[in-house]
Formats: sequence, structure tokens, C-alpha cells
Amino acid sequence: MTAVTYLDHAATTPVDPQVVAVLGAVLTEGLGNPSASHPAGRRAAVLIDQARSQVAALVGADPAQLVFTSGATEANNLAILGHAAGLTGAQRRGAQVLGLVTDHKAVLSPLRRLAEAGFALTLLQPDAHGLLSPQVLAAALGEGAQLVSLVHVNSETGVMQDLPALSAVCRERGVALHIDAAQSAGKLPLSVDGIDYLSFTGHKLGGPQGIGVLYVAPQRRVALQAQILGGGQQRGLRSGTLPTHQIVAFGLACQLAAERQAELAARLTALRQRLWQGLADLPGVLHNGHPQHCVPGAARAVAHADPLEAATPAASNRTTHRCRQSANAGGRKATVFQSRSSPAPRIRTPGSNRQSSCSKQSRHSRRSGIPSNLTAQSASAAANATAPATFWVPARRPSS
Ligand SMILES: Cc1ncc(COP(=O)(O)O)c(C=O)c1O
Repeated sequence: MTAVTYLDHAATTPVDPQVVAVLGAVLTEGLGNPSASHPAGRRAAVLIDQARSQVAALVGADPAQLVFTSGATEANNLAILGHAAGLTGAQRRGAQVLGLVTDHKAVLSPLRRLAEAGFALTLLQPDAHGLLSPQVLAAALGEGAQLVSLVHVNSETGVMQDLPALSAVCRERGVALHIDAAQSAGKLPLSVDGIDYLSFTGHKLGGPQGIGVLYVAPQRRVALQAQILGGGQQRGLRSGTLPTHQIVAFGLACQLAAERQAELAARLTALRQRLWQGLADLPGVLHNGHPQHCVPGAARAVAHADPLEAATPAASNRTTHRCRQSANAGGRKATVFQSRSSPAPRIRTPGSNRQSSCSKQSRHSRRSGIPSNLTAQSASAAANATAPATFWVPARRPSS
């Protein structure tokens, strides 16, 4: 059998052996329903409380402010749709919600659902590195702004947004901030300070799939509307029997991630450096991302079939950054704000049959299922792009 080296920890991480052991132990112990008052149920509830503290400690939260979910996707839906549903009639009139055009579908899709329900959706444009500037955010916040929902670390480039700066803008304007930390929790130091809602998930940090969490700041708790109704578990915010084994495993994974984080970050940063040094000698390889604001375990490169074409920054944009933008920019009633370094985007209206060659090729577009008639860039706009590449390794002629 061929040995496989699995490197895609942005998609999911292997479950830590200690976590596997605890999963098995809890499952075989024969615990009761944690809502039940008999001893087997109470024992499960005690274990869940311990795990709740471990998860909360990872992000400096009060354990009482956590709502367990099936993962980051559900946590995002609860934050975005639940926040919107909790707005008063007056807040709802002319309400604006904001996101970043390059972010994960687990954030963009619930935002789009709000646009369909009549909210004004503003999709912001990152700079050439993939970073959202606080100035761009501040300029886009309208009178009716109610929620900004952003991914902390991009799952494809590893680019990390400046949370303190973006949070300061939201605080100043009194707008709620939701952060999807699926790619950063356990990998970077993280705190809920200045954040209203924070989502993360077990399977990106050595825990099992199918368990995640939403932190809800105390001032948001009252208005937040549950999206899953039933037996009223978790103070009515997310009904359903709590999966004791999953939660206990998630708790341990969070604790282990916190203990190992600094050492792991140093090791991965050094490994990535070695990788880039090796890639720099290859013709036509472009580095896509940010040289500093990047999670340690991520590296993204694009190899051009024609290394000479890769020598131009515009070419790099055309095939990487631009494709991502067009793939992610769909959405009715969406406005795209952008930094000055990017050319003007064009929002297509639903019903148009034209499709950019860039979006046709985009892997993300195919995966995300965003209709091609809702792209933000036309092929010609992409081809004329003048913004610099994110940062790039100059191509060398292959030696013959
Ligand atoms: C940024 C981001 N958000 C959300 C998700 C979805 O998380 P989950 O699989 O826990 O629902 C992922 C991973 O796929 C992700 O990378």
C-alpha cells in the first residue's frame, strides 16, 4: 500500500490520538442524556461543563456564553440569521449587513439569504493581499448597518485579517461584529475581546467533525434568535440533545491546541520558509497571500504552465486573485466596495448569460455553486487588471 502524506489541514485535521481515546472512553462509558436528572445524565452534564471550560479558555471567553453547534457552518448561520431575526422593527428598516467578497461560503451564503429577505448586503473588496482595510470597512458602513460578518483567516490563502482594527471600527459605529475563526482557533492566539459573535469548529484543530461552537457576547444574548427549535436545550438557543462524546473530545482538542500552539506555530513557520525557498527556484511559481499576515500552517502558490507569463504581476492577478473575486462575488442586492489598488468591479445582474473565462476556470466557483451570471468581474476587466500581484516569485527561464 502507498503511504500518503496528508497536508491539507485547512480542510480538516487528523483527530489527535488522545482525542480518539477520549471519544472511545465516553462512548463506551454508557452515559445518559445530559438533560436528564438521573446519575448517568448528571455525569454527562458534568463532563460537558468541563469541556465547555476548555473550549472557552481557548478564546478567553466566559463558558456560559458558548452555544455548541454541529460545526462552524451552523454557528455562522446562528450568528448571522439569528442576529438579523432579533432586530427590532425600527432596526430592520433599511438594515445593512456587510461581508468580504473573498470569504468562505459558510458566511456568504447566510448573508445572501438576508439579501433575499430584503437586507442591503454590502460585499467588501480586499486589497491585493487579501486584507480588508479598516478604512474600507468604515467607509462602507451606512446609517442602517447592523452586522459585519468576516472570516478571520482565509481558508485558501491563510491571510489573517486585523481583528483589533476592524473591531474598533465596528465598536465606534455600534455595529455588531461576527467572526468566523474556523481557520484560526487553536492556531493563533485568539480572544473574544471586541467581538460579538465568534464561531469555530472541532475538526480544524485536532478534534472530531460534527461539533463546533458559537460564542455570544452577553449584550447580544437576549436578542439572538435560535435557528433550531425543539426541546429548548442550551437556554433555548440551540435545541437538540448535546452530543457528550463530541463535546468532551472538542474540549480536549482545544486544550491540547492551546498547549501546543506556540511550538507548532514556530515549527510550521520554519517549514513554510523552507518550502518557499525551494519553490523560489522553480520557474513560474507565484506566491499568493500575505508575507506577514498569514496563519503559520498555510501556503498558497500558483504554478503557471507558461513560466514567462507568470513574470508579469497582471498575469498573477488574472489567474489567482481575480478568479477568487469573481467566484465569490455573487449575490443579489450586493454592492462591492474595494480598495484603491483594485480596478473597478462590475456587478452582473441576475439573468445575464455572459460569463467570464476566469470564473469558468475557478475551482472555488465550481465548488461554491455560485451562479456564473453573478460574477463581479468581466473577463476583459480581469485581463486589464493593473493592481500588483499579492506577492510573487519572479519566474526564471527553464534552463535547457
Ligand atoms: C472559514 C471556514 N468557515 C467555515 C467552515 C465550515 O466549518 P464546518 O465544517 O465545521 O461547518 C470552514 C471549513 O470548511 C472554513 O474554512
